[in-house]
Amino acid sequence: MLGPLNHVGVAVPDIQAAITMYRDKFEVDDITEPKALPAQGVTFAFVNLPSGQVELIEPYGENSPITKFLEKNPRGGQHHICFEVEDINQASLTMAERGVRVLNEPRLGAHGTMVVFLHPADMGGVLIELMETPKEDH
Ligand code: CO
Repeated sequence: MLGPLNHVGVAVPDIQAAITMYRDKFEVDDITEPKALPAQGVTFAFVNLPSGQVELIEPYGENSPITKFLEKNPRGGQHHICFEVEDINQASLTMAERGVRVLNEPRLGAHGTMVVFLHPADMGGVLIELMETPKEDH
């Protein structure tokens, strides 16, 4: 059921500073422009690497889901990991059947496909995002 690791999510207090860090310290050129995703309460940018992506996320708006995380981790920190699945609805149902708390109804994620998050207490302490694999002919 579990497809490729798609990205590692990193919460940051200042997305421009984080982008500058990847550019200057690691000489990464391929970083997407920051984009607001109001439905998820974050502004995101992808650091594109040969092996996958680092997803930088900065709080957006009043009720951002990462505000609390940044209060605990003021410098930012590793927030979630994201795996691809073929069918997000089926994956959600299967997880729920297996006693894993699915934290949201499938909603549009940063890659333009539907995503859900799984409760870290049911996932060995790791917040896991499942995203539907983008279709080739999309
Ligand atoms: Co993510």
